[in-house]
Amino acid sequence: MPQDNVKIASPDGKLGVLIPGIGAVSTTFIAGVEAVRRGAAVPIGSLTQLATIRLGKRTDGRSPKIKDFVPLAGLNDLVFGGWDIYEDTAYESAVNAKVLERTQLDELKSSLANVRPMKAVFDQEYVRRINGPNVKKGKNKMELAEMLMDDIANFRKDNDLSRLVMIWCASTEVFHRPSAVHQTLQEFECGLQKNDPEIAPSQIYAYAALKSGVPFANGAPNLTTDMPAMLELARERNIPICGKDFKTGQTFMKTLIAPGLKARMLGLAGWFSTNILGNRDGEVLEDPGSFKTKEETKLSVLDQILQPNLYPELYKDFYHAVRINYYPPRGDAKEGWDNIDIVGWLGYPMQIKIDFLCRDSILAAPLVLDLVLFMDLAQRSGMRGIQEWLSFYFKAPMHAPGLYPEHDIFIQLMKLKNTLRWMRGEDLITHLGLEYYD
Ligand SMILES: NC(=O)c1ccc[n+]([C@@H]2O[C@H](COP(=O)([O-])OP(=O)(O)OC[C@H]3O[C@@H](n4cnc5c(N)ncnc54)[C@H](O)[C@@H]3O)[C@@H](O)[C@H]2O)c1
Repeated sequence: MPQDNVKIASPDGKLGVLIPGIGAVSTTFIAGVEAVRRGAAVPIGSLTQLATIRLGKRTDGRSPKIKDFVPLAGLNDLVFGGWDIYEDTAYESAVNAKVLERTQLDELKSSLANVRPMKAVFDQEYVRRINGPNVKKGKNKMELAEMLMDDIANFRKDNDLSRLVMIWCASTEVFHRPSAVHQTLQEFECGLQKNDPEIAPSQIYAYAALKSGVPFANGAPNLTTDMPAMLELARERNIPICGKDFKTGQTFMKTLIAPGLKARMLGLAGWFSTNILGNRDGEVLEDPGSFKTKEETKLSVLDQILQPNLYPELYKDFYHAVRINYYPPRGDAKEGWDNIDIVGWLGYPMQIKIDFLCRDSILAAPLVLDLVLFMDLAQRSGMRGIQEWLSFYFKAPMHAPGLYPEHDIFIQLMKLKNTLRWMRGEDLITHLGLEYYD
């Protein structure tokens, strides 16, 4: 019997899922979990629920489901809560988001209507296109953080929870680079007291989560925990963090195709990506500040996968542009086009066109579920700081300073599964395979 490399506490009791942002993604996630619990749906898109993991040799025939291999919280043990600047319950917000059919939502109404958002920490300097009434008031940012910590403690007590995870599903904040206040925990705490304008609402949530011993995952491209002060806090408190920006539509496609082009040593002259979407996320991203945050995470992917410094004759100076246009008639049903100009043998040009008619929140919801369950597993296993093995889920995976992030989705999946094998003391799978031919 293999010996676990880490001691994994068993997932006894209920797991609270706290979500800043009760919008399209989070309500689609909550509704989906409820439908699965009732046996009315299959959790399509979720590794934790559907994927298997091969153990040992190919001839061993051992491929349990991930959820049977590592001790994950059960769906029946999840309890949902969150914050939003609007007072709408998760049911009302889901009706408004129009991702799921109204008849389906009505069947799930009793559970969704129970999720009533707590008052948010919000600053219009960071999200310009929306404003709402359900917002906390405090004399400074530290007081706001303390109010969030109270919310977390009350939620834990009221629902008799044994553990919690927080996952940011709120709007994308405007682009800011880390500044002096983000360098150390002491400076950050001082900045909270002094109301430093460089501290964004998402950072106040993350601070409150980590101070409360709650793992934090970031589904949007905001800075949030991606700064030395928050890494210091996470390590000091032994809390896992991960982010950022769910890898769902166009970037998911990019990280499927680009490794394939590189694998075959095909060149790239240009990659033009454009999207239309009409949900609230699209509306927020109309603001150039919020779009800039998104653009940064979307653009970094190709450079990291194609490594133009190692392959200058194939990838030096390729043109890469990403556009997002708000187009209300489409709602959550985004359309993403890619025009890819590739170069083959003797420099002959070829083109690939992708037209992905996707549904943003349908793609994101299973990622939220997996991240919640894996972050809880990481916490119970004593893993702290950046969880690089969860890069699989993100457009801009957090990584150690001085290390480049891994964007190739297949390497990310191998890293994720090997981490699970490592946790349980199973052999890592290298795909070498020579032993079959001895
Ligand atoms: N759907 C996807 O495929 C996908 C992929 C990657 C990232 N994301 C990101 O996930 C986030 C959620 O997307 P969505 O489609 O659900 O957006 P949404 O606009 O439907 O929901 C976001 C909610 O956050 C609320 N909000 C804004 N600031 C807040 C604050 N400070 N505190 C609490 N609530 C706040 C808004 O009122 C809104 O209800 C966005 O940042 C989006 O960019 C989504």
